[in-house]
Amino acid sequence: MMSGKEIVLGVTGGIAAYKACEIIRELRKEGAHVHVVLTASGSQFITPLTLQTLSGNPVVTDLFNLISESEIGHISLSQRADLVLVAPATANIIGKIRNGIADDMLSTVVMATCAPVLIAPAMNSQMYASAAVRENLETLRARGFHFVDPGEGELACGTFGPGRLADPPKIVEMARILLSRKTLAGRKVVVSAGPTAEALDPVRFLSNRSSGKMGYAMARAARRLGASVTLVSGPVSLPDPYFIETVRVESAARMLDAVRSASSDADIVVMAAAVADFRPAEMNAVKIKKETFSGVLPMSPTVDILAELGREKGRRILVGFAAETDALDANASGKLRRKNLDAIVANDVSRGDIGFGADENEVRLFFADGTSSDIPKAGKEAVAESIFSALCAKGVIA
Ligand code: CTP
Repeated sequence: MMSGKEIVLGVTGGIAAYKACEIIRELRKEGAHVHVVLTASGSQFITPLTLQTLSGNPVVTDLFNLISESEIGHISLSQRADLVLVAPATANIIGKIRNGIADDMLSTVVMATCAPVLIAPAMNSQMYASAAVRENLETLRARGFHFVDPGEGELACGTFGPGRLADPPKIVEMARILLSRKTLAGRKVVVSAGPTAEALDPVRFLSNRSSGKMGYAMARAARRLGASVTLVSGPVSLPDPYFIETVRVESAARMLDAVRSASSDADIVVMAAAVADFRPAEMNAVKIKKETFSGVLPMSPTVDILAELGREKGRRILVGFAAETDALDANASGKLRRKNLDAIVANDVSRGDIGFGADENEVRLFFADGTSSDIPKAGKEAVAESIFSALCAKGVIA
């Protein structure tokens, strides 16, 4: 996604300047070319040598004293950029950008660029709360600048509050979003992920081996493609993905409620969750004792969420996942028809290398017209992107 992209990273004078190192490493890991512009005060916190070594490119520190203005000058840098990222951004640089001051390399590059500009503020919480900074941020947002808001926490000055630079992985995720094609712009996508857990008593439950990784990857891919995304997640050990509204549920019944309410105005619903088909008929109010347990567990069926959405389909695009251990094609296409879906992703969960919990997947996508498309083995994030590309190529998502 970031391969070959040109990113100008402005580093300004705050204690969080050292976190630019992690940002550079993340961006380069994905194949981006990073050009650092370091302000004079930024160089008080971190050396050009460190940033140059990590970025693999010369660090630009001054507007008029360049080794080669023609190669790395402000116009060249601002034109070359696919994205200008300022992290950390002090109150000072934010004020300069808002007021059209271009008195150093970074403020000049920001003013001269046509690329999206992403700003990650970091400062003392009183400064962040000040009227000047608030007004500057509001104006810049209205002008189309993008932000990753600071987090709350203990600040270097000893106070506690908002102002801490957002986590580098969060900043990098927003960079990915800004650099992606916007195939799903304006769409609302609901994705379910993970297993469900059906309580037997206050300490025990029945569940399955779903890790949630594929569903989370689908949610992230949809967000990067420009959709607003709600993720309904069963109990998994994954953190909430950035920039995605995440609703955590336990049981199939709660997942039904959450998916129903999130999908009332959705354009696309992707059910990647491994929803339990049965639940214990009774939830024991107290822990079942082994001396008194009969050895038989009466079970009741759960509601098939996807089949229910299929019955009241409307204009929504419905995409299912079929977790199979055998007769993959027949089972998956049978589910597609029975549940009135637009497409279903057939997933061979019997294979250790691509099944539940694995980091990779290899799937066959079946469409309602009986055709299919194979998506080769790759990381789950890449497979998720290919699924959306295939849905668009086929015209399922117009
Ligand atoms: N699904 C659902 N609600 C359920 C069960 C399944 O919404 N109670 C959805 C899953 O999220 C998935 C699709 O239906 O998108 C197929 O799920 P899968 O478990 O493969 O199939 P089932 O229909 O449950 O059939 P079986 O377990 O017998 O294979």
